[in-house]
Amino acid sequence: MKKTILSGMRPTGKLHLGHWVGALSNWVSLQKDYKCFFMVADWHALMSEYKDTSLIQESALDNVADWLSWGIDPEKSIIFIQSQVPEHLELYMILSTLTPLGWLSRCPTFKEQMKQLKDKDVNTYAFLGYPVLQASDILLYGADYVPVGDDQLPHLELCREIVRRFHFIYKKEIFIEPQPLLTKTPRFLGLDGRKMSKSYGNYIALDEPAGSLKEKVLSMFTDPARKLKSDPGHPEVCNVFNCYSIFKPQRSKEVRQWCEGAHKGCRQCKEILAQTLEDFIAPHREKKETILKKKNYLRDILEEGRRKAGRQALETLREVRELLKL
Ligand code: TRP
Ligand code: SF4
Repeated sequence: MKKTILSGMRPTGKLHLGHWVGALSNWVSLQKDYKCFFMVADWHALMSEYKDTSLIQESALDNVADWLSWGIDPEKSIIFIQSQVPEHLELYMILSTLTPLGWLSRCPTFKEQMKQLKDKDVNTYAFLGYPVLQASDILLYGADYVPVGDDQLPHLELCREIVRRFHFIYKKEIFIEPQPLLTKTPRFLGLDGRKMSKSYGNYIALDEPAGSLKEKVLSMFTDPARKLKSDPGHPEVCNVFNCYSIFKPQRSKEVRQWCEGAHKGCRQCKEILAQTLEDFIAPHREKKETILKKKNYLRDILEEGRRKAGRQALETLREVRELLKL
């Protein structure tokens, strides 16, 4: 029996290379050995985007199209939209009743997000319960593992604590305590050297058009000490070099040589990187176009996902209702 995995992304904008490096590439390889559930966490997105929900709507299908064009296989994995499986909310409510407020208010991600999303007004009842909904996502499908970045570890720990408390209170062990699946992802930064993020506008989208891709790469932050072509560069502090080592590792030795030996200037180095990334992105961008052109294709996949996820979710809830005599 294959072990089960569940992971999700919030549909709050376009997916970019940071998502590929940090999560999606990992999802794609996990499909071989695990039963995978990949979820569009639109209710989680709503918790920060409730004032203008248009972004959620735009992003949900677009994100799924990216997943598919970059290698998520609907024959292998169950792909679904959280809000199409209402059981998430029922379990979330039940888990809420036994989750102490202190666990949530002390959650480091809660405090962090309150600071970061200043413009979003997330000082709300729902936002406090964000990790409880996440626990419900995971427990509904009996996920053994949850692939997450280390920023999400507190949520997973909270989920495990909720499971233990649930089992203690109802004296029956019906849930699996999920384990995080941490993969070592390379450090990957945005064009300006900060974390690649939609909100900084420093990203390269997974379907970046060739023209803007080149423009973006040419604008990338490099070794500040290298002012002239004759100045030797320091690849280890250069983000362009970092991109080579992630997307074209076979070439990094050569890049190091032309950089440290001052043989090629940064402009040329970036032009070559732009072409490398274009070669990397182009096939997926084309695949996405075909996917979006096929009428009903996405809808059918998501409908199939809703059916399969829904069946599993309902089974879990039946057990919960029975145990709680509801
Ligand atoms: N909170 C996650 C994030 O922001 C998204 C998410 C929602 C999730 N539900 C999940 C991730 C369940 C893993 C498992 O990235
Ligand atoms: Fe960076 Fe390339 Fe310039 Fe070296 S030559 S500093 S690796 S952009």
